[in-house]
Amino acid sequence: MPSDVKSLIQEGAELTDKALEALIPGTDVVPASIHGAMRHSTFAGGKRLRPVLAMQAAATIAGEVPKGIERLGAAIEMLHTYSLIHDDLPALDNDDLRRGKPTCHKAFGEAIAILAGDALQTRAFEVLAGLDAPPSAVVQMIGLIANAVGTVDGMIGGQVLDLESEHLKPTPELVEAIHRAKTGALIRVSVVAGGVYAGANAHDVTRLDLFGRKAGLAFQIVDDVLDRTVDSAHLGKTAGKDQATEKATWPAVFGIEQSRRDAASLIEEGFAALAPYGGRADGLKSVARYLVERRN
Ligand code: IPE
Ligand code: IPE
Ligand code: MG
Ligand code: MG
Ligand code: MG
Repeated sequence: MPSDVKSLIQEGAELTDKALEALIPGTDVVPASIHGAMRHSTFAGGKRLRPVLAMQAAATIAGEVPKGIERLGAAIEMLHTYSLIHDDLPALDNDDLRRGKPTCHKAFGEAIAILAGDALQTRAFEVLAGLDAPPSAVVQMIGLIANAVGTVDGMIGGQVLDLESEHLKPTPELVEAIHRAKTGALIRVSVVAGGVYAGANAHDVTRLDLFGRKAGLAFQIVDDVLDRTVDSAHLGKTAGKDQATEKATWPAVFGIEQSRRDAASLIEEGFAALAPYGGRADGLKSVARYLVERRN
């Protein structure tokens, strides 16, 4: 990865980690077990790409990364971590390894893992409600984010489609619907909410949404490719899981080479929406390129 995008991601991740550290109750707070579980999964080496996307989308609108946006990033990362904890549960993907550590239910038991996911979700919305932005922007962000996590074209809806499609012969339309919802929606809203935090108008929101849609689909295509091409130690999660469970994935429909090409062209197509911002979108574009070039 080029050194400028590396430092951009590293700085964004560090800011996010500091905010998460301050925002998630410590294990000295009762009930300690759930705070331990929330922290176990949150501080397990996630890439923090959604917060970084929010920061760079904000910089595209405002010309710089606005103060306090790391708390928006932290809230989104809590929602993402909640989705991972539940994704790994025996009733869903039944995984033992996440972010290089035992999954939440392996370390804390199923009951606490379910509740830790729930708790990260409610804490995220509490943090969003307290963001240092104009009230109208805060309400807009909360609405957009809740929608992206929800059942209609959102993360939960996508997870339902994903589970119900196991063992079916996947079609292009089905896989696209799953990917846009289960993963694409949260990536898209990270970009859009970052823009709204920075004062985006309706035109900006439309452009960021278009870009975020393409980047979000590309992100899950790459996740599917990595599942087939990288080992568990590098991924920090169990490799080869999708074929073993006959998941509806992009490579299952299109093959690995076509999947790689599709992910790269989606990112290029997304850049067209950012053209009006010129060089101000460079950070966002470089992070987007990393989304498809990453190896874990
Ligand atoms: C993994 O997301 C799960 C998907 C939605 C594809 P990431 O690849 O962003 O995982 P972390 O946050 O770095 O662990
Ligand atoms: C996960 O998709 C999407 C989520 C909403 C968490 P996957 O099931 O492919 O994610 P990994 O590969 O386990 O991270
Ligand atoms: Mg899954
Ligand atoms: Mg999974
Ligand atoms: Mg996967």
